Amino acid sequence: MTNGSSQQKKVLAPMVRIGTLPMRLLALEYGADLVYSEEIIDRNFLDCYIHDNEKYSIKEWISNKTQLSFFSTCVKERDRLVVQLGTSNANYAWKAAEKIVPFCRGIDVNMGCPLDYSTKGGMGSALLKTPEIASDIIKTLRRNLPSEYSVTAKIRLFPVLQDSIDFVHMLANSGADAVAIHARQVHERAKDKANWNQLAQIATHLSNIPLLGNGDIFSSQDMQQMKEQTGISQWMIARMAQWNVSIFQGTLDSIHNVIVRYVKLAQDTNTYYGLAKYCLQQMIKYQKWTKTEFASKINHSQCWKDLEDSLVFVPPHP
Ligand SMILES: Cc1cc2nc3c(=O)[nH]c(=O)nc-3n(C[C@H](O)[C@H](O)[C@H](O)COP(=O)(O)O)c2cc1C
Repeated sequence: MTNGSSQQKKVLAPMVRIGTLPMRLLALEYGADLVYSEEIIDRNFLDCYIHDNEKYSIKEWISNKTQLSFFSTCVKERDRLVVQLGTSNANYAWKAAEKIVPFCRGIDVNMGCPLDYSTKGGMGSALLKTPEIASDIIKTLRRNLPSEYSVTAKIRLFPVLQDSIDFVHMLANSGADAVAIHARQVHERAKDKANWNQLAQIATHLSNIPLLGNGDIFSSQDMQQMKEQTGISQWMIARMAQWNVSIFQGTLDSIHNVIVRYVKLAQDTNTYYGLAKYCLQQMIKYQKWTKTEFASKINHSQCWKDLEDSLVFVPPHP
């Protein structure tokens, strides 16, 4: 069984606060084929300017209102970066896409976020209930973007299988180049097992559009297992990449190396230290290091120098 494109791809999933430039670059260094940005709400792009930060060789999108950077990228990821938009309006989505397309390879629309802040504005999983708006957004992006840029969507499962199939079918007919399916329903959380059986059935019905399989991939074995069970060989990985992004190279690298490389990339890309601190805290939790001196140093850090100094306390390899 194969779905659409049988070419294997490992993809960094969109993750708020995690999927910023240094994590994306590290994912690529460890072998990811594609990296999704965290979700960015379309309106941010409508009221911003692009700062060419020559010191760091990056471009930064700065809000006119706050003068803070809400997105950054660099040439190294240009051909492998998909920017995910939070949107409920085709016109805004296109205006936002216009501000970013020269610097990425595609635009994705978040149609799966279950959180109130997203759904209240008609974004995220609210789009699963408004297929005409979802279709309008995809059609508008596809119509306006040059064909070398991909237009994709990331969805969740519907309670009824046929509804998932119909929705993906609608996206394909609207011009989507691929659809990522997070194999959980909107009300389900990370502790609920991802439903690969449904993925398999959707893939069987939809051979005309590439599908990315997402949910509960924690190892290379899981990727092979998903391929065998569903025919899908484009794997989108979120939490395991958050915990140890070397998942993309197959065998995990030591978390010590991952941490050192992440911190270096974060510093080299003008990343706010608080954001790097947050990412390190997620890695620490997964290692069950919360009671170590390293964790304490990270938790108390207040600047880049503190974070850097704490690296000597990373526990040794087990
Ligand atoms: C910290 C975090 C942030 C996330 N942010 C986004 C997001 O911005 N957009 C999105 O579509 N999904 C987001 N997700 C969902 C993931 O992309 C993914 O669908 C989900 O975690 C299931 O994949 P996994 O089992 O590999 O973790 C987020 C997940 C996590 C853990």
